[in-house]
Amino acid sequence: MVRRVSGAAFSSLAENASGTVDLLNQLCVPVPALTIGELLGVPADQHGELRDAATAMVTFDASSKESAMRLAGAVTSLAETFTSVVRFKREVPGDDLISGWVRARDDADLLSEDELVSLAFLMMLAGLENVVHLCGNIFAALLAADAPANWTARRDELMEAANPLPFAIRRFAVSDLTIGDQIIPKGDTVLLSVFGADSDPARNGRPSLMFGRGPHYCLGAQVSDLIVDAVVPELFVRYPQVRLAVPESELEYRASWRSQGLVALPVHLQ
Ligand code: HEM
Repeated sequence: MVRRVSGAAFSSLAENASGTVDLLNQLCVPVPALTIGELLGVPADQHGELRDAATAMVTFDASSKESAMRLAGAVTSLAETFTSVVRFKREVPGDDLISGWVRARDDADLLSEDELVSLAFLMMLAGLENVVHLCGNIFAALLAADAPANWTARRDELMEAANPLPFAIRRFAVSDLTIGDQIIPKGDTVLLSVFGADSDPARNGRPSLMFGRGPHYCLGAQVSDLIVDAVVPELFVRYPQVRLAVPESELEYRASWRSQGLVALPVHLQ
C-alpha cells in the first residue's frame, strides 16, 4: 500500500512557475497523510484541514495572543473532527483501524471513549507531522551533502540525525522524584529530551531513542520505516540529477520547539 501511495505521489510531482518542485509539500506531506489516513480510515478530503490544525499546535507561540487563539481553534476543531469520525465509524464500520478500535471499545470495553478519540487523533497527527518532517529532513541532509549514494550504508545514522522530535511525550511526576541532584516535585510536567539522550557522550552504543522505548514505544515506528524506505531512495532512482533549488543556508525551518521541520524544500528534479 505504501508503494502504491508513494508511486502516485511521484507521478504527480509537478514543477511550479519558477521551474522548481517543493518536495516537502508534494511528496513528504501526501505519502504519510494518505497512507496513515487509509490505515485509520480518515477521509482524504479532511487531511488539509487536519494538517493546518496540527501546524497550529506544533508552532504554538506562548508569547502571541494570535497564536494562542489559533491553537484554541485548532484543538476544538481536531476534537470535533475525531469525535465525528468515530461516530461515523460506529454507524458505518469499515475495514480500518478506527472501526476496529470502535469494536474493541463497544464489544469488549478495552478502551474508554476518550482513549479511542485521542488515539485516532494522535496517530493521524503523527502521520501529518512526524513522518513528513523526518522525510523532509533526510532529503535536506542528502541533497545538501550531494551524497544520495550514501543512503543505504548510512540509513540508520541519517534517520537518527533527521529526527524532527526533540522531546518524548510529556510525563507528570506522580510523586516527588530525585534524579541526580535535581528534585522534581509531584505534579510537575517533565519533558524527556530525546536529542539530549541520543547525543549523550556516555551513550556507548545504546540504540537511538528516537522512537522511545519500553511500553510506550512508538506505535508508528514500523510504518514510518516503510514510508522512508519507499520515498527516500526512490527519489534518487527516478531523478539522479535532483538538487536543491536554493543554497542550504536559505532553507526555511518552522519556528517550533516541538518539531524541527522545514517550511518547504524546493528542488530541481532534472
Ligand atoms: C517519524 C517519525 C516518528 C517519530 C520520530 C516518533 C517518535 C515517537 C516518540 C519519541 C514517542 C514517545 C515515546 C515516549 O514518550 O515514551 C512516540 C509515541 C507514539 N507514536 Fe510515534 N513517532 C513517529 C511517527 C509516528 C507515526 C507515523 C505514528 C502513527 C501512525 C505514531 C504513533 C505514536 C503513538 C500512538 C505513540 C504513543 C505510544 C504510547 O504512548 O503508548 N508515531 N513516537
